[in-house]
Amino acid sequence: KTFFTPISGGSTPSPTKRPTKITVVGVGNVGMAIAQTILTQDLADEITLVDAIENKLRGEVLDLQHAAAFLPRTKIHASVDYADTADSDLCIVTAGARQNPGESRLNLLQRNVALFRHIVPPLAKYSPESIILVVSNPVDVLTYVAWKLSGFPANRVIGSGTNLDSSRFRFLIADHLDVNAQDVQAYIVGEHGDSSVALWSSISVGGVPILSFLKRQQIPYEKETLESIHKEVVQSAYEVIRLKGYTSWAIGYSVASLARSLLRDQRRIHPVSVLAKGLYEIDGGDVFLSLPAQIGLGGVLGVANVHLNDEEAQKLRDSANTILEVQSQLGL
Ligand code: NAD
Ligand code: LAC
Repeated sequence: KTFFTPISGGSTPSPTKRPTKITVVGVGNVGMAIAQTILTQDLADEITLVDAIENKLRGEVLDLQHAAAFLPRTKIHASVDYADTADSDLCIVTAGARQNPGESRLNLLQRNVALFRHIVPPLAKYSPESIILVVSNPVDVLTYVAWKLSGFPANRVIGSGTNLDSSRFRFLIADHLDVNAQDVQAYIVGEHGDSSVALWSSISVGGVPILSFLKRQQIPYEKETLESIHKEVVQSAYEVIRLKGYTSWAIGYSVASLARSLLRDQRRIHPVSVLAKGLYEIDGGDVFLSLPAQIGLGGVLGVANVHLNDEEAQKLRDSANTILEVQSQLGL
């Protein structure tokens, strides 16, 4: 602290805003991919990492700190004590069991709800104004659980949802058409998982609705082709888990993109898991599932009214019912 000689007035702190702080709970494959993407993208002034396994936690944090010379300046802390997460702007929860090859996300529910009872209340206690972003699976049901356990308003509890599925979808469509995935506007909504819904009727490439685009380019397509692309999206995670044991890089980028929109108040529209009751004729109860939502500093700012055809609307309601059925076993 004495390395520089202070100049006149130099010791007075400058009237800058308070630091942006992110907490990531769980330093497994997913937590670390998220943390490292956030670091490289300069999205926070401080990151606090929390895990139940102290040695692993300290090792991961030291390893990240050793990259300081190559990264934007960010203070990185490790702690098993939630008091050190105090005053976070964003709390990202990635802790928990992950799928074995072939296992569904919904199968993880009981194990991960038990963990959430130890994780969410202290996060809410120490950062009562924060936004909670749930990543652990099954993400939609656990977002509901986090909402209940935190007592936060629904606009400040979000699940990473189908932001990832939509990226996979955009990649596959882009690959199919040989265009840039960033020029493909396409949403997967509903459950992050097996009952997700592809919104074919609203897909556009460079502003051109995809179905007429395909027609104009004289690219033959059939409903089965479209369905097979959606099937591939649903199978994506199973395939990656079969091959490497877990998924990490894409969810890292997906969650960093959400952190940017939230903390930098980008007001971008992302398909994320939000309280969907009363929207899109979903009226079976309090259910979180992904809809195209505008997000910014206040959390969820609103949900876009995308036109769904009858088949899509029915599939979305079916997806809501799948989640509600699982949720009804919780007794929360
Ligand atoms: P992992 O096994 O590598 O890491 C899980 C971490 O959670 C471990 O470090 C473990 O010590 C920690 N943990 C367990 N109990 C804890 C507790 N009570 N408090 C703090 N930390 C605790 O698993 P992973 O591959 O990182 O996956 C984590 C979760 O993310 C899984 O549920 C997985 O299904 C989910 N996931 C979700 C998405 C998505 O799109 N939503 C994508 C990939 C993975
Ligand atoms: C995913 C996780 C497993 O990568 O939910 O889709």
